[in-house]
Order: sequence, then structure tokens, then C-alpha cells
Amino acid sequence: MEDPYLPKKVKILKIMQETSDIKTFVVESVLPEHSPGQFVELTVFGVGEAPISISSSYPAMVLTVKKIGSVTNALFELKEGDYVGVRGPYGRGWPMKELKRRNAILICGGVGLPPLRPIIYSRLLDKDSGSTLLCYGARTPDDMAYRGELEKLAKQGISINTTVDTCPMGWKGNVGVVTCIMDRAIKKDENAVCMMCGPPVMMKFASKMLLDKGFTKDQIYISLERMMKCGVGKCGHCMAGGKYVCKDGPVFRLDELEKLPERML
Ligand SMILES: Cc1cc2nc3c(=O)[nH]c(=O)nc-3n(C[C@H](O)[C@H](O)[C@H](O)COP(=O)(O)OP(=O)(O)OC[C@H]3O[C@@H](n4cnc5c(N)ncnc54)[C@H](O)[C@@H]3O)c2cc1C
Ligand code: FES
Repeated sequence: MEDPYLPKKVKILKIMQETSDIKTFVVESVLPEHSPGQFVELTVFGVGEAPISISSSYPAMVLTVKKIGSVTNALFELKEGDYVGVRGPYGRGWPMKELKRRNAILICGGVGLPPLRPIIYSRLLDKDSGSTLLCYGARTPDDMAYRGELEKLAKQGISINTTVDTCPMGWKGNVGVVTCIMDRAIKKDENAVCMMCGPPVMMKFASKMLLDKGFTKDQIYISLERMMKCGVGKCGHCMAGGKYVCKDGPVFRLDELEKLPERML
């Protein structure tokens, strides 16, 4: 029997420097089919594993990673042609069935955009999909991932709203937290599904704003980030409020999260 914890060795095909501390890695696609919002356990051999969202639609395997600690620092030392390990795909992703023919409102901060990115591309391919609106916040303009790509998506009909916390002289875009752009861009919409990923404080205030605008809890989905080890519901490392974030999530509907501890959101 195949060992579920054994990563598959894959070649890094391409590396794109997104910002000073974010890189996108295109790796060989060898895992079973994945859906938007799922993640892989990424191994840097000799260092360790980290859960990373798949930021592309199947069959491509694209991972956008922020340099944080031991695994991600070692990953940033690797070059195109080097090898990493992957196992997965894991977790429950975004509610793609509920999203059919409905409008999508995507809200994110920092490296919260990668797990939402495949939703955008699936909607560009689906002629029956409703509108797609993105609200994305970063610390500064230089910390914004996929910047050139966002400009192209805007030309393809995706409503792109960005903001930064602080900016250099001459910046003509929005300044302020994500909720500032949400307030202007988002109107109550019974036919919308809202999906968000980012720092817990952002998701807490963003979900409160959506509720204040009249969205219901079953219209709001949140992807949680927790410390993980096995990724498959065995070790209990990610457990909170009786749920395995790795297996029952990482995507939860807002009303499901009410049973989880307050500090998770
Ligand atoms: C389901 C899921 C999807 C993710 N997707 C992405 C992604 O697409 N891109 C990306 O860049 N990152 C993503 N992350 C976060 C990523 O897993 C961590 O940044 C990574 O594990 C850090 O590993 P490290 O060895 O480099 O850092 P470490 O040396 O382990 O840690 C450095 C610091 O970061 C903290 N930390 C580590 N992991 C987490 C975590 N999961 N949540 C909160 N704090 C943490 C540690 O407490 C420590 O303070 C995701 C996490 C989860 C759970
Ligand atoms: S990471 Fe092991 S149970 Fe979730």
C-alpha cells in the first residue's frame, strides 16, 4: 500500500518573483485532480513540510509562497530545475457548486489571494457565471502579488479593487484597510457568494461588514490558516472546536465557524 505521508518528488519548472518576500513556483503536476481552495503539503527535502494552497486550476500546479520561516526560507534558495516534494491535494475547498450562475465576491489580504485565484480563472472559462468582484489589500504597492496579472484580469471583465496600508509618493490607488474598499465596492446581493482569506483580523471585520450590509451567514465562506502537520485529519494538530481544519476545512461557511473559538477569527 502506498504511504500517504510520502511526498511525490516534482521538478520546479518555473519561478516568478512576485514581491521581495513572495515567489510563485510552477511545479510538475503529478497529483490527483484538485479543486479551488485545496492545498498541498510541500516538502523542501532535508528541511520539512508546509501546507500551501494551490493557486492554479487543475491540471497546473502553481504555488505562491511567502517567505516566513525554515521551510519557506529554504524553498526560496531553490532554483528552476531543482526538486521539491508534494502530497495532496487536501481539504475542503471553495463551494464551487453553490457558485454556479451566482455572483462571486472575493476578499483577501496578503497571501490570501493565491487560494482565491483559481476561482477567478474558472469563472473566466464559464460563460454562465455571474459577475466576479475582487477586493485585495496589501501592505504597500510593492507587496502586491500578481500585479500585472490583476491589470489583465480587469480588462477581461473582473472587477478588481485594490488598496494598500501605506504608499510611496505618487501612488494614485486606494490607501486604507480592505474594509474601506469593500464599503464602496460591495452592495447587498442576494445572488452572491462571498469568499475570503487573509489575516484573522481582516476576516473578522470584513465578515462583520458583509453582515451589516445584509448578507446572510450562509453566503459567507472563509478559508482558515492553522498550524498543520499531517494534513489528513490524523494528528489533531489543527483541531479547533471539534473540527479538523485540514480535513473539514480549510474553507468553512460563517455559520459553521460560530462553534469554533473566538480567537480563530
Ligand atoms: C491550508 C493552508 C494554506 C496555506 N497556503 C499558503 C499559501 O498559499 N502561501 C503561503 O505563503 N502560505 C500559506 N500558508 C501558510 C504556510 O503554511 C506557512 O507560512 C508555512 O507553514 C510556514 O512554514 P515555515 O517553515 O517557513 O515557517 P516556520 O518556521 O514554521 O514558522 C515561522 C513563523 O510563522 C508561524 N506560522 C507557521 N505556519 C503558520 C500557519 N499555518 N498559520 C499561522 N502561523 C504560522 C510560526 O508560528 C512562526 O512564528 C497556508 C497555511 C495553511 C494552513
Ligand atoms: S494537520 Fe493533522 S489532523 Fe489536521
